[in-house]
Amino acid sequence: MTVVGTRGATLTEGGADFPTGFVWGAATASYQIEGAVHEDGRGPSIWDTFSHAPGRVAGGDTGDVACDHYARHAGDIALMGELGLAAYRFSVAWPRVRPAGGGPVNARGLDFYDRLVDGLLRAGITPYATLYHWDLPQALEDAGGWPERDTAYRFAEYAAAVHERLGDRVGHWTTLNEPWVAAFLGHGNGVHAPGRTDAAAAFRAAHHLMLGHGLAARALREAGAREISLVLNLSPVITPAQVSDPGAGLSEADAEAVGRIDTLLVRQFTEPALRGEYPAGFLGIVDRNGGLGHVRDGDLGIVHQPIDVLGVNYYNPCVVEAGPGLAADAAWPGSEDVRFCPADGVPATAMGWPIVPSGLSRLLVRLSDDYPEVGLMITENGAAFDDVVEDGRVHDTRRTAYLEGHLRAVHAAIADGADVRGYLVWSLLDNFEWAEGYRRRFGIVHVDFATQRRLLKDSALWYREVIARNGL
Ligand code: FCB
Repeated sequence: MTVVGTRGATLTEGGADFPTGFVWGAATASYQIEGAVHEDGRGPSIWDTFSHAPGRVAGGDTGDVACDHYARHAGDIALMGELGLAAYRFSVAWPRVRPAGGGPVNARGLDFYDRLVDGLLRAGITPYATLYHWDLPQALEDAGGWPERDTAYRFAEYAAAVHERLGDRVGHWTTLNEPWVAAFLGHGNGVHAPGRTDAAAAFRAAHHLMLGHGLAARALREAGAREISLVLNLSPVITPAQVSDPGAGLSEADAEAVGRIDTLLVRQFTEPALRGEYPAGFLGIVDRNGGLGHVRDGDLGIVHQPIDVLGVNYYNPCVVEAGPGLAADAAWPGSEDVRFCPADGVPATAMGWPIVPSGLSRLLVRLSDDYPEVGLMITENGAAFDDVVEDGRVHDTRRTAYLEGHLRAVHAAIADGADVRGYLVWSLLDNFEWAEGYRRRFGIVHVDFATQRRLLKDSALWYREVIARNGL
């Protein structure tokens, strides 16, 4: 089947060469893989507390051991080398670096990232460091967490401390990973740490996360960081009809629902970061959900720092339609009168996430139209399936098909003019998938959590070929 991209470029079968210098890599995050939660002076994070609280994570799983990457990073770097990765995106655990959130820097915590970075560079792999992938020091949560303004300032201090140690070798810096998830799953529906359910706290957290982004970006820039990015979870917001027919028209009521959810998911973050303002209508929503007392004059100027790259984490589209009379979803304060819909007629992953590669083309073209000054990078894309190990192999054909479909979508977006500079698969390793624990496997490398044995899945072998060919 041939799928046509937004401006006519096609997601055809057959060859697809990517631009010279296109960056191929993989991504992980500290709490999901490191384990070693008591090692070398690390302090507790909100995810330690949350995962140890009964009933919060499937199977009672915690990140205590995870992939034991803290001890096994050398072997994991060797695997990356085998795959030919050019880039590896990891996150730094704030509670290793500043165990109490603020206060003294724990040099032993930074030593780990020193070893990691040196190992990557020796293997010819470019490190991409993310400073916040959700593991807030518990001490800062005890002081009020992201709903408190002070947390943003502590974040910038921590960011500067990490840059001071690694900045001579790390050129690619991401401030935050997915502030929408941290704010609205952490404080709205409470499915993620710290598990609060308070719409006002969620909006305060989102604002302070973005303030922290701006403060940290400014500190990194002043310290000489070469490339600075913000990573967002982004989806095109579409109606059920647009799942299979991207060009389907919208009723006025559906267009309003789509526009409002796009404001909450996408423009709440892109507009302050890239334009220095909140989108029209947004502050009214915040005002109705606890007020605007936390938004101070000058904040948006701080949030609006020049960034080089917008990191796009894409898994699936967000499908909505008008739903008169419906109450707001707890993860989406401000979503009154909107129905969140399943995507009918397309397959789904083990997470239940619908597989719609054309959504990625649509998203990338829209972002490069709206924000032409910033480069784009796919910082996460991938899928969980119920993998089976058979005779030492994992024939994860559905994962390979997912990745191939999405790479074709990236290729089509580039042909349509989007400035996409690289693709990082989520994830290198099966890992602790937050509230889903270990039962959801996203890795291209299988991890046997009883033995810590790593095994390249068929998708990893396929990805190695894609990298070697710089295309499909
Ligand atoms: C993203 C997270 C990442 C991983 C994937 C599946 O939202 O950034 O840590 O859990 O989803």
